Amino acid sequence: MSQWKPDSWRSKPILQQPTYQDKAHLKDVEGKLSSYPPLVFAAETRELFKQLGNVAEGKGFLLQGGDCAESFDEFNAPKIRDTFKVILQMAIVLTYAGSCPVTKVARMAGQYAKPRSGDFETINGVSLPSYRGDIINSFEFTKEAREPDPSRMIEAYHRGASTLNLLRAFAQGGLADLHEVNRWNMAFVENNPLKSRYQDLAKRIQDSLEFMDVMGINSTNTPTLHETSLFTSHEALLLNYEQALTRVDTLTGNWYNCSAHMLWIGERTRQLDHAHLEFFKGIHNPIGVKVGPSMQEDELIQLIDALNPNNEAGRLTLITRMGADNLEANLPKLLRRVKQEGRKVVWSSDPMHGNTFKASSGYKTRNFDAILKEIQQFFAAHEAEGTHAGGIHLEMTGQHVTECTGGAYKIGDEDLAEAYKTQCDPRLNADQVLEMAFLVADHLRSN
Ligand code: PEP
Ligand code: CO
Repeated sequence: MSQWKPDSWRSKPILQQPTYQDKAHLKDVEGKLSSYPPLVFAAETRELFKQLGNVAEGKGFLLQGGDCAESFDEFNAPKIRDTFKVILQMAIVLTYAGSCPVTKVARMAGQYAKPRSGDFETINGVSLPSYRGDIINSFEFTKEAREPDPSRMIEAYHRGASTLNLLRAFAQGGLADLHEVNRWNMAFVENNPLKSRYQDLAKRIQDSLEFMDVMGINSTNTPTLHETSLFTSHEALLLNYEQALTRVDTLTGNWYNCSAHMLWIGERTRQLDHAHLEFFKGIHNPIGVKVGPSMQEDELIQLIDALNPNNEAGRLTLITRMGADNLEANLPKLLRRVKQEGRKVVWSSDPMHGNTFKASSGYKTRNFDAILKEIQQFFAAHEAEGTHAGGIHLEMTGQHVTECTGGAYKIGDEDLAEAYKTQCDPRLNADQVLEMAFLVADHLRSN
């Protein structure tokens, strides 16, 4: 470990990276980024670490969500605000239902790099490099657009900084007031076709807030009712960028990746002897790793020990993405083994990435019921094994998109074309996210 440096990853095999033609330009960009201010402060990151430590010990819940890929084109205040609002709305429902604190982590302010299933994309016989996220190249299907451009890292940094700035303002400036948040939820319920199913819970939250008000506990004298904390996260895939934002914290002398509070390693880049593992070993942030259906027990223990050798609660979140039909066969054995070996982790469910399919309309989609089924099975598996179902990780947006089918508004295959805006994977829209919150709340209450 004493040998670790932010650039140690460069001597290891690495997958899912762009090939930059202009190496001098790349070096220049990396140099610039290394001199820019960090986006987050290490002490905030330690606060998230502590909260996740409580989650690992069964005393909290992690809600993580946002776009599959943030887009440079759709970079505006309403979009940031609406996703922020829906995360808060979901969190209040989960907090009430689970009677436990909910730690909110956005997939925002840096979620710009994407792993792809192939290096090339072919349309009508033309093959071009795959789109790898706006930090690397552009979505447009032309040779110029698909060429990886290092200056996009600078763009990503500035957009990440503005996004974070607005999120901080919303969190502390009054938009996060719990009374307001539950009013939005009441309005959601009022308009929802499945109103009767959700209204009881929203009403009870309302009553609790009113009761506190009567007791003299209100937004004016109690900051926790008026403000919130929202942390940021993204998949740390493009290590040139992540390295440039990795800094020594002057208070502790430790290395922190200051591009976000929490970073995760994707399912395709978590090989034990590869570059991403090497990079993550040296940063002191709380980190996540995706765990898909092929994961075996021994491999998982090795992965845990590589990433969290001191077995610190809060350091490591295992984000399982099994697929609704594979979870029962694959998750319980992992829960059992990790428990047996006494490893402290947060178990979080990503019910999105194992449930993607191509609809007959040609759109890549996910069905609401399959997503819900994976979450339900996740809770059931934890209950059976005596472990803590610690969180959920969603691809979602506050906008009214039509990318996932199902939900109370019964979005069908034929409706997907109406507002299919994602540059990568299909997201739950605002209504679908809130429905999910109310349905997940039922499980939290029964646990
Ligand atoms: C993602 O979270 O967008 C992603 C690519 O997930 P995974 O690594 O689990 O496939
Ligand atoms: Co995705």
